[in-house]
Amino acid sequence: MKRFISLAECSDNEIEEMLKLASALERAPDPTLLAGKVLGLIFLEPSVRTLASFQTAMARLGGSSFVISPGRGSWGMEWRPGVTMDGVAAEHMNEAIPVLEQYADALGLRCFGRGVSVAEDLQDPLMSVVAGLAAKPLINLESACGHPCQALADWKTLEDLQIPRQGGRFVLSWANHPRPLPIAVPRSTLLMAARRGMDVTVLAPPGFELPEEVMGEARALAATSGGAVQSTSNREQAMQGAQVLYAKSWRAPSAFGDDEREAALRAAVGDWCVDEPWFAGADPDAVFMHCLPVRRNVVVSDAVLDGPRSRVVHQAGNRLNAQMGVLAKLFSNNNGPEDPR
Ligand code: CP
Repeated sequence: MKRFISLAECSDNEIEEMLKLASALERAPDPTLLAGKVLGLIFLEPSVRTLASFQTAMARLGGSSFVISPGRGSWGMEWRPGVTMDGVAAEHMNEAIPVLEQYADALGLRCFGRGVSVAEDLQDPLMSVVAGLAAKPLINLESACGHPCQALADWKTLEDLQIPRQGGRFVLSWANHPRPLPIAVPRSTLLMAARRGMDVTVLAPPGFELPEEVMGEARALAATSGGAVQSTSNREQAMQGAQVLYAKSWRAPSAFGDDEREAALRAAVGDWCVDEPWFAGADPDAVFMHCLPVRRNVVVSDAVLDGPRSRVVHQAGNRLNAQMGVLAKLFSNNNGPEDPR
Protein backbone atom coordinates (compact mmCIF):
# COMPACT_ATOMS: atom_id res chain seq x y z
CA MET A 1 0.00 0.00 0.00
CA LYS A 2 1.58 3.25 -1.19
CA ARG A 3 -0.81 5.81 0.31
CA PHE A 4 -4.03 6.12 2.32
CA ILE A 5 -6.23 8.66 0.59
CA SER A 6 -9.51 6.74 0.50
CA LEU A 7 -10.84 3.33 1.46
CA ALA A 8 -11.87 2.97 -2.19
CA GLU A 9 -8.17 2.69 -3.09
CA CYS A 10 -7.67 -0.14 -0.59
CA SER A 11 -8.40 -3.75 -1.45
CA ASP A 12 -10.61 -5.81 0.85
CA ASN A 13 -7.47 -7.64 1.99
CA GLU A 14 -5.70 -4.38 2.84
CA ILE A 15 -8.66 -3.21 4.92
CA GLU A 16 -8.78 -6.53 6.79
CA GLU A 17 -5.01 -6.36 7.38
CA MET A 18 -5.24 -2.81 8.77
CA LEU A 19 -8.11 -3.83 11.06
CA LYS A 20 -6.07 -6.79 12.33
CA LEU A 21 -2.98 -4.62 12.79
CA ALA A 22 -5.10 -2.05 14.64
CA SER A 23 -6.35 -4.68 17.10
CA ALA A 24 -2.91 -6.26 17.54
CA LEU A 25 -1.22 -2.89 18.14
CA GLU A 26 -4.02 -1.79 20.47
CA ARG A 27 -3.24 -4.79 22.68
CA ALA A 28 0.54 -4.49 22.33
CA PRO A 29 2.00 -1.40 20.62
CA ASP A 30 5.45 -2.27 19.26
CA PRO A 31 7.83 0.61 20.16
CA THR A 32 10.38 -0.58 17.58
CA LEU A 33 8.07 -0.89 14.56
CA LEU A 34 8.57 2.65 13.22
CA ALA A 35 11.89 3.49 14.90
CA GLY A 36 13.52 6.39 13.07
CA LYS A 37 10.46 7.12 10.93
CA VAL A 38 9.03 10.64 10.80
CA LEU A 39 5.48 11.63 9.85
CA GLY A 40 4.84 15.21 8.71
CA LEU A 41 1.31 16.40 9.45
CA ILE A 42 -0.06 19.39 7.51
CA PHE A 43 -3.28 20.80 8.95
CA LEU A 44 -4.92 23.48 6.83
CA GLU A 45 -7.97 23.07 9.11
CA PRO A 46 -8.30 22.61 12.89
CA SER A 47 -8.26 19.23 14.63
CA VAL A 48 -8.09 17.62 18.05
CA ARG A 49 -8.44 13.85 17.53
CA THR A 50 -6.67 13.44 14.18
CA LEU A 51 -3.69 15.53 15.23
CA ALA A 52 -3.28 14.06 18.72
CA SER A 53 -3.93 10.45 17.70
CA PHE A 54 -1.45 10.51 14.79
CA GLN A 55 1.28 12.04 16.96
CA THR A 56 0.55 9.47 19.66
CA ALA A 57 0.48 6.62 17.12
CA MET A 58 3.94 7.59 15.83
CA ALA A 59 5.30 7.88 19.37
CA ARG A 60 3.81 4.52 20.47
CA LEU A 61 5.41 2.79 17.48
CA GLY A 62 8.84 4.36 18.06
CA GLY A 63 8.68 7.08 15.41
CA SER A 64 8.11 10.81 15.63
CA SER A 65 6.13 13.53 13.91
CA PHE A 66 5.97 17.24 13.23
CA VAL A 67 2.97 19.46 12.64
CA ILE A 68 2.64 22.30 10.14
CA SER A 69 -0.42 24.56 10.51
CA PRO A 70 -0.27 27.00 7.57
CA GLY A 71 -1.40 30.46 8.54
CA ARG A 72 -1.37 29.55 12.24
CA GLY A 73 2.31 29.52 13.19
CA SER A 74 3.56 28.41 9.76
CA TRP A 75 3.59 30.29 6.46
CA GLY A 76 0.23 30.43 4.72
CA MET A 77 0.19 27.98 1.79
CA GLU A 78 -1.18 28.31 -1.71
CA TRP A 79 -1.91 25.27 -3.87
CA ARG A 80 -3.65 26.52 -7.02
CA PRO A 81 -1.55 26.24 -10.18
CA GLY A 82 -0.63 29.45 -11.97
CA VAL A 83 -1.83 31.75 -9.21
CA THR A 84 -0.23 35.18 -8.54
CA MET A 85 0.72 34.99 -4.89
CA ASP A 86 0.01 38.54 -3.77
CA GLY A 87 -2.36 37.49 -0.94
CA VAL A 88 -1.69 36.06 2.52
CA ALA A 89 -0.03 32.83 1.35
CA ALA A 90 3.76 33.12 1.32
CA GLU A 91 4.55 29.58 0.21
CA HIS A 92 3.27 27.24 -2.52
CA MET A 93 2.64 23.53 -2.12
CA ASN A 94 4.86 23.05 -5.21
CA GLU A 95 7.85 23.82 -2.99
CA ALA A 96 6.44 22.92 0.44
CA ILE A 97 5.66 19.27 -0.35
CA PRO A 98 9.08 18.30 -1.78
CA VAL A 99 10.80 20.29 0.99
CA LEU A 100 8.83 18.59 3.78
CA GLU A 101 9.37 15.20 2.14
CA GLN A 102 13.09 15.66 2.74
CA TYR A 103 12.33 15.76 6.47
CA ALA A 104 9.62 13.10 6.64
CA ASP A 105 9.02 9.51 5.51
CA ALA A 106 5.31 10.16 4.95
CA LEU A 107 2.98 13.15 4.96
CA GLY A 108 -0.59 13.65 6.14
CA LEU A 109 -2.84 16.45 4.90
CA ARG A 110 -6.11 17.90 6.20
CA CYS A 111 -7.90 20.19 3.72
CA PHE A 112 -11.64 20.81 3.48
CA GLY A 113 -13.66 21.67 0.38
CA ARG A 114 -15.13 25.07 -0.45
CA GLY A 115 -18.76 23.89 -0.39
CA VAL A 116 -19.40 25.78 -3.61
CA SER A 117 -20.36 22.81 -5.75
CA VAL A 118 -20.89 19.12 -5.06
CA ALA A 119 -18.96 18.21 -8.19
CA GLU A 120 -15.93 20.26 -7.11
CA ASP A 121 -15.84 18.80 -3.59
CA LEU A 122 -16.20 15.25 -4.93
CA GLN A 123 -13.18 15.88 -7.16
CA ASP A 124 -11.14 16.69 -4.02
CA PRO A 125 -9.05 19.33 -5.84
CA LEU A 126 -6.49 20.22 -3.15
CA MET A 127 -5.86 16.63 -2.05
CA SER A 128 -5.50 15.64 -5.70
CA VAL A 129 -2.90 18.35 -6.32
CA VAL A 130 -0.86 17.33 -3.27
CA ALA A 131 -1.18 13.64 -4.18
CA GLY A 132 0.34 14.54 -7.54
CA LEU A 133 3.23 16.36 -5.86
CA ALA A 134 3.96 13.77 -3.15
CA ALA A 135 6.58 11.14 -3.87
CA LYS A 136 6.25 9.56 -0.43
CA PRO A 137 3.16 7.98 1.20
CA LEU A 138 0.35 10.48 1.71
CA ILE A 139 -2.40 10.09 4.30
CA ASN A 140 -5.76 11.84 4.03
CA LEU A 141 -6.45 13.47 7.41
CA GLU A 142 -9.89 14.58 6.07
CA SER A 143 -10.37 16.22 2.72
CA ALA A 144 -13.21 17.77 0.76
CA CYS A 145 -14.90 14.43 0.13
CA GLY A 146 -13.46 11.85 2.49
CA HIS A 147 -12.20 10.98 5.96
CA PRO A 148 -10.83 7.45 5.57
CA CYS A 149 -9.04 7.42 8.95
CA GLN A 150 -12.38 8.09 10.66
CA ALA A 151 -14.08 5.44 8.51
CA LEU A 152 -11.48 2.79 9.37
CA ALA A 153 -11.74 3.63 13.09
CA ASP A 154 -15.54 3.41 12.87
CA TRP A 155 -15.29 0.05 11.07
CA LYS A 156 -13.11 -1.20 13.95
CA THR A 157 -15.61 0.15 16.50
CA LEU A 158 -18.41 -1.80 14.79
CA GLU A 159 -16.22 -4.93 14.95
CA ASP A 160 -15.48 -4.30 18.64
CA LEU A 161 -19.22 -3.96 19.31
CA GLN A 162 -19.93 -7.15 17.33
CA ILE A 163 -22.48 -5.36 15.16
CA PRO A 164 -23.03 -7.85 12.30
CA ARG A 165 -21.54 -7.04 8.93
CA GLN A 166 -24.21 -8.77 6.85
CA GLY A 167 -27.63 -7.49 7.79
CA GLY A 168 -26.45 -5.18 10.59
CA ARG A 169 -28.92 -2.28 10.64
CA PHE A 170 -27.06 1.03 10.31
CA VAL A 171 -28.75 4.45 10.16
CA LEU A 172 -26.75 7.49 9.08
CA SER A 173 -28.81 10.50 10.11
CA TRP A 174 -28.48 14.16 9.27
CA ALA A 175 -28.57 16.29 12.43
CA ASN A 176 -28.92 19.95 13.18
CA HIS A 177 -25.87 22.26 13.32
CA PRO A 178 -25.41 26.03 13.33
CA ARG A 179 -23.02 25.88 10.36
CA PRO A 180 -23.01 24.09 7.00
CA LEU A 181 -20.54 21.20 7.28
CA PRO A 182 -18.61 19.23 4.63
CA ILE A 183 -19.81 15.96 3.14
CA ALA A 184 -16.52 14.15 3.85
CA VAL A 185 -17.57 12.30 7.02
CA PRO A 186 -21.12 11.38 5.93
CA ARG A 187 -19.80 10.13 2.56
CA SER A 188 -17.01 8.08 4.15
CA THR A 189 -19.37 6.72 6.82
CA LEU A 190 -21.97 5.67 4.26
CA LEU A 191 -19.38 4.02 1.98
CA MET A 192 -17.77 2.24 4.95
CA ALA A 193 -21.08 0.78 6.19
CA ALA A 194 -22.11 -0.24 2.65
CA ARG A 195 -18.74 -1.90 2.01
CA ARG A 196 -19.02 -3.70 5.34
CA GLY A 197 -22.19 -5.34 3.97
CA MET A 198 -24.61 -3.59 6.29
CA ASP A 199 -28.25 -2.68 5.72
CA VAL A 200 -27.82 1.09 5.58
CA THR A 201 -30.47 3.79 5.70
CA VAL A 202 -29.63 7.45 5.14
CA LEU A 203 -32.12 9.50 7.14
CA ALA A 204 -32.31 13.16 6.14
CA PRO A 205 -34.92 15.91 5.92
CA PRO A 206 -36.05 17.03 2.45
CA GLY A 207 -33.33 19.05 0.75
CA PHE A 208 -30.56 17.34 2.75
CA GLU A 209 -30.52 14.00 0.89
CA LEU A 210 -26.92 13.02 0.13
CA PRO A 211 -25.91 13.69 -3.50
CA GLU A 212 -27.03 11.02 -5.98
CA GLU A 213 -23.37 10.46 -6.96
CA VAL A 214 -22.59 9.45 -3.36
CA MET A 215 -25.70 7.27 -3.03
CA GLY A 216 -24.71 5.59 -6.31
CA GLU A 217 -21.22 4.83 -4.97
CA ALA A 218 -22.78 3.32 -1.86
CA ARG A 219 -25.26 1.20 -3.83
CA ALA A 220 -22.44 -0.15 -5.98
CA LEU A 221 -20.47 -1.16 -2.88
CA ALA A 222 -23.55 -2.76 -1.31
CA ALA A 223 -24.19 -4.75 -4.49
CA THR A 224 -20.73 -6.30 -4.10
CA SER A 225 -20.71 -6.71 -0.33
CA GLY A 226 -24.22 -8.12 0.01
CA GLY A 227 -25.43 -5.01 1.83
CA ALA A 228 -28.31 -2.66 1.07
CA VAL A 229 -28.62 1.12 0.87
CA GLN A 230 -31.75 3.23 0.99
CA SER A 231 -32.73 6.76 2.01
CA THR A 232 -35.77 8.29 3.66
CA SER A 233 -36.92 11.34 5.57
CA ASN A 234 -39.22 9.17 7.73
CA ARG A 235 -37.51 8.79 11.10
CA GLU A 236 -39.79 6.07 12.50
CA GLN A 237 -39.34 3.98 9.38
CA ALA A 238 -35.56 4.45 9.33
CA MET A 239 -35.09 3.63 13.00
CA GLN A 240 -37.15 0.41 12.96
CA GLY A 241 -34.79 -2.29 14.25
CA ALA A 242 -31.73 -0.02 13.94
CA GLN A 243 -28.61 -1.24 15.74
CA VAL A 244 -26.54 1.88 15.07
CA LEU A 245 -27.58 5.51 14.79
CA TYR A 246 -24.65 7.49 13.40
CA ALA A 247 -25.43 11.22 13.47
CA LYS A 248 -23.69 13.87 11.38
CA SER A 249 -24.62 17.22 9.96
CA TRP A 250 -23.82 18.14 6.38
CA ARG A 251 -24.38 21.04 4.03
CA ALA A 252 -27.65 20.73 2.08
CA PRO A 253 -26.51 19.38 -1.30
CA SER A 254 -29.46 21.16 -2.90
CA ALA A 255 -28.01 24.51 -1.76
CA PHE A 256 -24.24 24.18 -2.31
CA GLY A 257 -22.77 27.60 -3.08
CA ASP A 258 -25.78 29.45 -1.65
CA ASP A 259 -25.16 29.92 2.08
CA GLU A 260 -28.27 32.05 2.58
CA ARG A 261 -30.64 29.44 1.14
CA GLU A 262 -28.72 26.69 2.93
CA ALA A 263 -29.18 28.50 6.28
CA ALA A 264 -32.90 28.89 5.59
CA LEU A 265 -33.21 25.17 4.85
CA ARG A 266 -31.35 24.32 8.09
CA ALA A 267 -33.44 26.74 10.16
CA ALA A 268 -36.57 24.85 9.12
CA VAL A 269 -35.23 21.57 10.57
CA GLY A 270 -33.63 22.88 13.75
CA ASP A 271 -35.50 20.21 15.72
CA TRP A 272 -33.34 17.42 14.19
CA CYS A 273 -31.44 16.95 17.44
CA VAL A 274 -30.99 13.25 18.29
CA ASP A 275 -32.81 12.38 21.51
CA GLU A 276 -33.92 9.22 23.27
CA PRO A 277 -37.41 9.12 21.61
CA TRP A 278 -35.63 8.64 18.27
CA PHE A 279 -34.77 5.10 19.43
CA ALA A 280 -38.41 4.07 20.11
CA GLY A 281 -38.54 1.40 17.38
CA ALA A 282 -34.82 0.59 17.37
CA ASP A 283 -33.07 -2.53 18.65
CA PRO A 284 -33.11 -2.21 22.46
CA ASP A 285 -29.29 -2.29 22.48
CA ALA A 286 -28.94 0.27 19.67
CA VAL A 287 -25.85 2.45 19.98
CA PHE A 288 -25.22 6.11 19.16
CA MET A 289 -22.12 7.07 17.15
CA HIS A 290 -20.63 10.40 16.08
CA CYS A 291 -17.13 11.29 14.86
CA LEU A 292 -16.73 14.27 17.25
CA PRO A 293 -16.48 17.13 17.89
CA VAL A 294 -20.20 17.27 18.63
CA ARG A 295 -22.40 20.15 19.71
CA ARG A 296 -24.45 19.15 22.74
CA ASN A 297 -28.20 19.76 22.58
CA VAL A 298 -27.90 20.87 18.95
CA VAL A 299 -26.75 17.65 17.25
CA VAL A 300 -27.60 15.29 20.12
CA SER A 301 -29.09 15.63 23.59
CA ASP A 302 -27.09 15.37 26.80
CA ALA A 303 -29.30 12.38 27.69
CA VAL A 304 -28.12 10.33 24.68
CA LEU A 305 -24.51 11.53 24.74
CA ASP A 306 -24.11 10.82 28.47
CA GLY A 307 -26.32 7.71 28.39
CA PRO A 308 -25.56 4.01 27.85
CA ARG A 309 -26.04 4.12 24.06
CA SER A 310 -23.17 6.49 23.38
CA ARG A 311 -20.00 5.00 21.85
CA VAL A 312 -18.39 8.30 20.83
CA VAL A 313 -15.43 8.03 23.21
CA HIS A 314 -14.79 4.43 22.11
CA GLN A 315 -14.87 5.63 18.49
CA ALA A 316 -12.36 8.39 19.19
CA GLY A 317 -10.11 5.90 21.00
CA ASN A 318 -10.11 3.76 17.89
CA ARG A 319 -8.70 6.65 15.88
CA LEU A 320 -5.37 5.88 17.56
CA ASN A 321 -5.66 2.12 17.00
CA ALA A 322 -6.82 2.35 13.39
CA GLN A 323 -4.06 4.81 12.55
CA MET A 324 -1.43 2.58 14.11
CA GLY A 325 -2.77 -0.04 11.68
CA VAL A 326 -2.53 2.37 8.74
CA LEU A 327 1.01 3.46 9.65
CA ALA A 328 2.21 -0.10 10.21
CA LYS A 329 0.84 -1.08 6.81
CA LEU A 330 2.25 1.95 5.00
CA PHE A 331 5.71 1.71 6.54
CA SER A 332 6.24 -2.00 6.89
CA ASN A 333 6.04 -3.25 3.30
CA ASN A 334 3.37 -5.67 4.45
CA ASN A 335 5.63 -7.11 7.18
CA GLY A 336 3.72 -5.82 10.20
CA PRO A 337 3.20 -7.80 13.38
CA GLU A 338 1.03 -10.90 13.24
CA ASP A 339 -2.35 -10.77 14.91
CA PRO A 340 -1.94 -13.50 17.55
CA ARG A 341 -5.65 -14.42 17.59
N1 CP B 1 -13.26 13.28 14.04
C1 CP B 1 -12.21 14.09 13.80
O1 CP B 1 -11.58 14.03 12.74
O2 CP B 1 -11.88 14.88 14.84
P1 CP B 1 -10.89 16.15 14.71
O3 CP B 1 -11.54 17.11 13.75
O4 CP B 1 -10.79 16.69 16.11
O5 CP B 1 -9.59 15.66 14.19
